[in-house]
Amino acid sequence: MFELSFSTVKVKFKFMCAVNKTDLSHTQDPLQLSKEWLKEAEQSSQITHPNAMAVATVNPKGQPSSRIVLLKEINNEGFIFSTNYESQKGRDLEQSPLIAANIYWDPLFRQICIQGAAEKLDRQDSQKYWASRPRESQISHFVSPQSQPVESRAFLDQQYNKALKQFRNDLFLFLKSKSSWLAQRLFP
Ligand SMILES: Cc1cc2nc3c(=O)[nH]c(=O)nc-3n(C[C@H](O)[C@H](O)[C@H](O)COP(=O)(O)O)c2cc1C
Repeated sequence: MFELSFSTVKVKFKFMCAVNKTDLSHTQDPLQLSKEWLKEAEQSSQITHPNAMAVATVNPKGQPSSRIVLLKEINNEGFIFSTNYESQKGRDLEQSPLIAANIYWDPLFRQICIQGAAEKLDRQDSQKYWASRPRESQISHFVSPQSQPVESRAFLDQQYNKALKQFRNDLFLFLKSKSSWLAQRLFP
């Protein structure tokens, strides 16, 4: 196991991988390395969800909680994922932007541990990520109250089918979802 940590004032990155030290010798830029590792993971036929990322947030009592989200993109400003703002994590982030994330690619035996803060992307950027989501996910978002108990599966199905017929236009759905859905940038 080889381990290397990068840190600056705001940044805390930890990369862990198997013995291939060349991985870590050609760049000291953690975001660049993250992008390269993600690309390799995406190219691996053995990895079903290369962009699955565990994200931990903290509630006002200091209780951490974690869940899987899909990493949309790694760019020069950080890690992009999107979420419903009415979810537990959304509410946590309203109170405290502090966040930790972890990505693990099993066959590659690599993980990235990130600590940082999250900030909302603006509506225009969020819309771009919204448009990249499958229509089924957009509708599901619209009809399911996040992180809350639902009446029954049948109720959800009914709402889903109703919305499917009602909203034919992606942008309209996005506008209807108001502030509840926004892409997030996790900047380490
Ligand atoms: C493979 C997978 C991908 C997921 N992707 C997302 C995502 O991109 N954004 C999101 O908010 N929730 C995503 N979820 C659902 C979350 O894991 C979680 O159940 C939901 O967001 C509510 O979490 P919270 O109540 O802790 O906020 C995904 C779940 C799975 C299993």
